[in-house]
This record gives sequence, C-alpha cells and structure tokens, in this order.
Amino acid sequence: MGEYTPRSSILCFIGLFLASVSGPVDCKPPNILFILADDYGFHDIGYHSSEIETPNLNRLAAGGVRLENYYVQPICTPTRSQLMSGKYQIHTGLQHGNIELEQPSCLPLDDVTLAQKLKESGYATHIVGKWHLGIYKKACWPTRRGFDSYFGYLQGAEDYYTHFAFRGLDLRDNDDSVWNYTGSYSTTLFTHRAQELLRRHSSQTPDTPLFLYLPYQAVHEPLEVPEQYMVPYAHITDKKRRIYAGMVACMDEGIGNITRTMDQLGLWKDTVLIFSTDNGGQIYQGGNNWPLRGWKGSLWEGGMHGIGFVHSPLLPAKVQGTINRELIHVSDWFPTLVAGLAGGSLNGTKLDGYNMWNTISRGDPSPRKEILHNIDPLFQRPNKTHSMPVMGTKVFNETIRAAIRSGDWKLITGSPGNSSWIPPPDYGFTPVTPIEAPGKMVWLFNITADPSEYYDMSSQRPDVVQRLMQRLQYYYEVAVPVFYPPNDPRANPKYHNGTWSNWE
Ligand SMILES: *[C@@H]1O[C@H](CO)[C@@H](O)[C@H](O)[C@H]1NC(C)=O
Ligand SMILES: *[C@@H]1O[C@H](CO)[C@@H](O)[C@H](O)[C@H]1NC(C)=O
Ligand SMILES: *[C@@H]1O[C@H](CO)[C@@H](O)[C@H](O)[C@H]1NC(C)=O
Ligand SMILES: *[C@@H]1O[C@H](CO)[C@@H](O)[C@H](O)[C@H]1NC(C)=O
Ligand SMILES: *[C@@H]1O[C@H](CO)[C@@H](O)[C@H](O)[C@H]1NC(C)=O
Ligand SMILES: *[C@@H]1O[C@H](CO)[C@@H](O)[C@H](O)[C@H]1NC(C)=O
Ligand SMILES: *[C@@H]1O[C@H](CO)[C@@H](O)[C@H](O)[C@H]1NC(C)=O
Ligand SMILES: *[C@@H]1O[C@H](CO)[C@@H](O)[C@H](O)[C@H]1NC(C)=O
Repeated sequence: MGEYTPRSSILCFIGLFLASVSGPVDCKPPNILFILADDYGFHDIGYHSSEIETPNLNRLAAGGVRLENYYVQPICTPTRSQLMSGKYQIHTGLQHGNIELEQPSCLPLDDVTLAQKLKESGYATHIVGKWHLGIYKKACWPTRRGFDSYFGYLQGAEDYYTHFAFRGLDLRDNDDSVWNYTGSYSTTLFTHRAQELLRRHSSQTPDTPLFLYLPYQAVHEPLEVPEQYMVPYAHITDKKRRIYAGMVACMDEGIGNITRTMDQLGLWKDTVLIFSTDNGGQIYQGGNNWPLRGWKGSLWEGGMHGIGFVHSPLLPAKVQGTINRELIHVSDWFPTLVAGLAGGSLNGTKLDGYNMWNTISRGDPSPRKEILHNIDPLFQRPNKTHSMPVMGTKVFNETIRAAIRSGDWKLITGSPGNSSWIPPPDYGFTPVTPIEAPGKMVWLFNITADPSEYYDMSSQRPDVVQRLMQRLQYYYEVAVPVFYPPNDPRANPKYHNGTWSNWE
C-alpha cells in the first residue's frame, strides 16, 4: 500500500517480448474495462453451478483469473464509494445505507477518485451506466469526478425502459438530461453507447490508454427484460427468477458484444477486464446467493462475498484459467489499477486498499490480512447486555452493526441482517432459518472452513472474539463521523422540469 511502482513490469516485460517480434513498444499502460453488475448474486453466474447460463462470462473467467475469496460491500453506494476512493466507509462518512434519492450527500469532494488518478496517468476516462455517488451538487457528478464523458443515471434504480426513477427522468448524456431514449432497454442502450465510445476512441485517440467504467443497471430490480431473453428459461417456474435469468442473459450478451467490438478494433490485446458484482443478490427480486448465508444488505457472506474475475490477454499464461483464493476487496481496485496497471503514483492518497496486481497476475500471496467489512453506528440493536470477555482495554459495543475479517476468521456484531440460507426457488428445498438465542449479538466463523457460516465459534474461541472486538474498537475510534443528512424537498423532480438533478 502506498508503494510506488513505476509501471507494471509484467506488462512492459510482455511488451518487450512482443517488441522483439513485432517492432518497438512504448510500454503504454493497458486499457482498463471495469464492468460492475448490480445486485448480481453469488449463485447467478454459470461457473457457480447456476441454472442461469452465462456463456460469455464463463468464457472470459475460464481464460482469466477467477477471484473466489473476493469481497464487496452489502449495498450499492458503499461498494461504489470504495471502488472510486480506495477507502473504507469509516473514512468517507458513508457508513450508513445508500445515498437516497433526495439526500444531499455524495462521495466527499476532497476524495480523489480512481478516474482522476487514471487521468493523471494519461488515460481517457469514460463512464456508461449507474453512478449512485451523489447528485445534489454538480460537483458530485461523474463529469466533475474525473470522467471525460458520462452516459447514464445518477440515482440508484429506475425503470429499464422509461429511465424514470419514480416521478423523475434520470438519464444523462454528460450533464444534459436526455428524453429521447424512452423504450430503449438499458442493458442494450448502455452496451451500444459503450461500443460507440470504443469506436470513437479507437479512431480518434488510439494511442491513449482507455479507462471504461461500465456499471450496468442489470440485474437490479425492477424485473424487466425483453421477452426473447427469457425463452431459454421457460422451465424456471418462479416468475421473478425467470425474468431475472433473462436479465442476466441479456447482460451476458452485452458483455460478449463489447469484448467482440474491442477485439475487432484491436483494443482487446492490451486490455485488462475486471468484472465484479456490487453486492449480493436480492432474493426477493430474483437473485440468489446459494450456498451462502443471507443476501444483499446483510453482513452475512451472501451480502458481500462477491462474484469477480479478471481477464486479459496480458496475463501470464500460467495464471490464465486459474482460481485465485487470496483475500481481495473492492477497495483494492484503486491501488491495483492506479499503481499496478497504470504506473501511477499513490503519493498523497491515504488508502485502505492494496495493490493486488502481483497477487492476480502472479499468484503472489495477498498483502491483505484483514477486511473491515463495516461499522455502522447508526444501525444499533436496542439494548442488550451480553457478557463479553473484557481484558483491560475498552471493548467494542456489540450492539453496533459491524463485521471484520481477519485471516480465516470473521466476527459479526449487532444486527447483521436476515440470517437464513435461501436456496434457489426451483431447487425444491426450503429456506433454513436458524434458531438463535434471543439477544445474540456476536458471531465468529472460520470462513475458510465454513464459507456458509453454519458453525458459530464465538463461545469456543473467546480469545479470537476479544482480539477482533478490540480491532473493531480501534477502527471505531479512528472513524470519521457518519454523514447521513435528512432528505431535502428541493430535490423533487417537479422543480427540475421532471428530472432528477442537482438542487444546490
Ligand atoms: C437523442 O438526442 C440527442 C441530442 O439531444 C442526440 O444526440 C441523440 O442522437 C438522440 N438519440 C436518439 C436515439 O434519438
Ligand atoms: C449484441 O449484438 C447483437 C448483434 O449485433 C444485437 O442484436 C444485440 O442486441 C446485442 N445485445 C446487447 C445486449 O447489446
Ligand atoms: C512520494 O513521496 C515520497 C515522500 O514524500 C517521496 O520521497 C517520493 O519520491 C514520492 N514518489 C513519487 C513517485 O512522487
Ligand atoms: C431494552 O431495555 C429496556 C429498559 O432498559 C427494557 O424495558 C426493554 O425490555 C429492553 N428491550 C429488549 C429488546 O431487551
Ligand atoms: C452500546 O450501545 C447501546 C445502544 O446505543 C447503548 O444503549 C449502550 O449503553 C452501549 N453500551 C456501552 C457499554 O456503551
Ligand atoms: C428471514 O427471511 C426468510 C425468507 O424470507 C423468512 O422466512 C424468515 O422468517 C426471515 N427471518 C426473520 C427472523 O425475519
Ligand atoms: C480454519 O479452517 C481451516 C480449514 O479447516 C484450517 O486449516 C485453519 O487452520 C482454520 N483457521 C484457524 C485460524 O483456526
Ligand atoms: C423539459 O421536459 C420536457 C419533457 O417533459 C422536455 O421535452 C424538454 O426538453 C425539457 N426542457 C429542458 C430545458 O430540458
């Protein structure tokens, strides 16, 4: 962390090797295509034995490095904030919830974004899709946070065809609301925009490295998809799951289209693709995280043990097609891309992420030993006095919703969210809801041995509980205050010609 690597030596090494065959090489950093799926469940990708087929994602993962000890945050804004800042929520004030429609909040303006850093390294930077990192001031918008261009929506969810979030249109081409895409399904629309952008880039600025951030609307609710994508899933009896499967199929097709376009344009050969979900699947909206416990929004593994992989023709042959089980977190992409791929400097940034490029490209051990999943002091269980072994120092208040991973261990406190195991609806077995002692507030799991969190070890290992409670207390004391302001009625689209727009 914080260490400056002049430029990915591996990439230059490959470049030099190619140069000996095909002429001079300039060590131009690679193009970066970062695709973020929304609410895409752990069980919902073909290679996790899903009933949903994802031929393109499977093929890309099979030729790349699958990340199987990879973590995101339980909901949208937190994951996106960590991706863009490289910082835990305790360092941005965004510990609690999402940024809501009418909330005057955004990723703090003094946090340098991933896009800004890549721009500093000479990249062209573009975003197509969902932002969800603040709308109330124009200064929060992606075009002011390091992106050369933007096409997409600023809020968290909307209709896939009308591009309305409740009573307001939310679709922008750079800073301008655009009204003429009604009826255009967003997965197809965003795919086409990305393809157009790639063509323009390759014809106008082919020598500039490209950062394309593609946070798809798919596969978040509302459950909407053109009929044709559901046809292969007619056998799925649960209607929500069937539509969701179609939404996944359409996203998979779009990703196939984009990679094909990049290949045709000659961009693919020096591109690194990162694919990630933003959080666990929403079981009430077609998603599924089997065999993990819990789902979107919770601190159980189903909320944040994420799907992710890296694919690139630049990866050494020995890691292509491998599964990586090193501990990696969404906050790691910032230093990995900036220092590991772009050859940029991390000087002056105070990050919680680690540069994982050697871990991904060489299989080196992860420099990360711990993940602070979150501490949300605004999410406390009402009273309860559970006796924790206290040895000297102040111990974390267990009523607070928090979780921390340390090596194999994971400690959860407070109210982590619904703790059931939910099989996919067509599997023919019923959800299992655990019976917990009333007022239970502390759980400890060995995630390596028990990735589905069946065996709580907190009473067997009070020593580990004690150590991790102290670690939580340390983070609690260094956290910045939570910023979660009340809604502002000035946000109402009726004051903004029927659109969601800035109100300050
Ligand atoms: C929508 O309108 C914009 C100008 O506001 C134009 O550039 C774009 O081509 C139009 N798109 C469609 C699909 O009509
Ligand atoms: C993918 O490309 C095909 C062929 O051009 C097109 O018919 C389809 O709509 C595209 N799919 C998406 C999701 O963009
Ligand atoms: C980063 O900062 C340190 C200390 O200020 C300095 O020694 C080093 O040269 C800087 N590195 C770069 C690449 O700017
Ligand atoms: C919380 O504490 C109050 C009084 O301190 C008590 O009346 C109440 O029953 C407690 N609630 C729970 C859920 O333990
Ligand atoms: C922990 O937080 C709860 C809820 O705010 C509070 O009632 C309780 O007093 C706190 N416990 C300690 C030991 O500070
Ligand atoms: C958790 O969710 C499951 C599935 O909806 C439900 O059956 C169960 O009652 C919930 N448990 C609690 C404690 O709310
Ligand atoms: C966790 O479980 C794994 C697999 O059984 C075991 O190898 C490891 O030692 C355990 N970790 C700890 C810290 O006990
Ligand atoms: C205001 O909204 C209407 C649609 O209701 C749209 O046609 C028009 O272009 C918008 N005006 C401006 C200035 O954006």
